[in-house]
Amino acid sequence: MNAPHRLLIGNIGQLITMAGEPHARVGAEMSDLALIRNAAVLIEGQNVIGCGVEDTVYAAATTLGDFDEIDAAGAVVTPGLIDAHTHLVHGGTRQGEFEARALGKTYAEIMDGGGGIYSSVLATRAATLPELVAAAKLHLAEMLAHGTTTCEAKSGYGLDLETELRQLKAVSILNREQPVELIATFMGAHAVPAGTDQGDYVDWLCGVALPEVAASGLARFNDVFCELGVFTQEESEQILLAGKRFGLQPKIHADELNDTGGAALSARIGAISADHLHCASDVGLLAMADAGTIAVLLPGTAVFLGLTVHAPARRMIEAGVAVALGSDFNPGSCYCRSMPLIMSFACTQLGMSPAEALAASTVNAAYASGVGGRVGTIEVGKQADLVLWDADDYRMMPYAMGANLVRTVIKKGSFCVLP
Ligand code: NIG
Ligand code: FE
Repeated sequence: MNAPHRLLIGNIGQLITMAGEPHARVGAEMSDLALIRNAAVLIEGQNVIGCGVEDTVYAAATTLGDFDEIDAAGAVVTPGLIDAHTHLVHGGTRQGEFEARALGKTYAEIMDGGGGIYSSVLATRAATLPELVAAAKLHLAEMLAHGTTTCEAKSGYGLDLETELRQLKAVSILNREQPVELIATFMGAHAVPAGTDQGDYVDWLCGVALPEVAASGLARFNDVFCELGVFTQEESEQILLAGKRFGLQPKIHADELNDTGGAALSARIGAISADHLHCASDVGLLAMADAGTIAVLLPGTAVFLGLTVHAPARRMIEAGVAVALGSDFNPGSCYCRSMPLIMSFACTQLGMSPAEALAASTVNAAYASGVGGRVGTIEVGKQADLVLWDADDYRMMPYAMGANLVRTVIKKGSFCVLP
């Protein structure tokens, strides 16, 4: 049998381990990066087997035998970034809508005019499986180049069974064909298809689509767009509870444009996360804190749409809600594939500190995506997903707004080829 391959990353200026208790970070915990200076990480196969002060890790590596070594030259090393909310797989692009908004139209006006989600539904229905896979591969290469090693990915641009399953199949193919690890979410409840009765669609989701999707084994989560004019709180509850009966864990797009009680609903039904939350009430936030529901905040969306209302991140952190970040990457409301840029927005628009933004993009995003036991921190026994940055201070990541400081990405112990 071949000896397992060992790799030592030495001369790390700041090792951001995020090590700690096995749960999402809340309150002051979000500021504790478990930072080690003059550090090293030892990887064996796909996992971390040592991390800490360089001399100690070096000594341990030497006793084990041969190892390869790379010199981080004083760089910052963090866990691979985790994007907790994307609409990765879709057909087409909507740069014309971006232009129309720049010239004064609103997102709602564009949607009412037949654009918005519906134009992506048409483009996605028209795309073949290889076309969806090829387009998403390019997006994932861009995400990886910006340090994302794990990413949640929703369906929701089919609104019929065939296309929704095609989107989810694309996710499972992508999981085999490129390094960024994907977690699939079914989001048939993204909109009601044009020409379909609202009640009939909810019944179809609960009675037909959810059991079929669950039986396919292609999705782990079930998400609903709970919003005025989309799905009511009652319909959202019905759809999420139906999914839960078939083994799909609830997620929810909640209180994005209006307070429709989505935050409280997420807590009541045991959702793993509630996402967006720009307009969430304090009562809803306290319920989330009590239930341990993670808030996934998506500041890129408001910036992309030119909105000034942002999620009350400080109130959430003070209330004891665990906050995670995501890009919300999608063709309509946020065409952004860079988590460092999202961290910049978290600092400038949400009042989060660089440390909190980093916790939200690693350990808390991992728990919001159901993979916190395996990724999101650099600890012995965890998967070796790491990023080396062209920086000697982690605060450079959100500070160098729009720049890409990623130097090297390691996924499951292997070096990634970056575009
Ligand atoms: O998360 N909020 C709902 N859905 C997407 C936007 C979808 C689109 O415009 O295509 C979002 O922002
Ligand atoms: Fe979204």
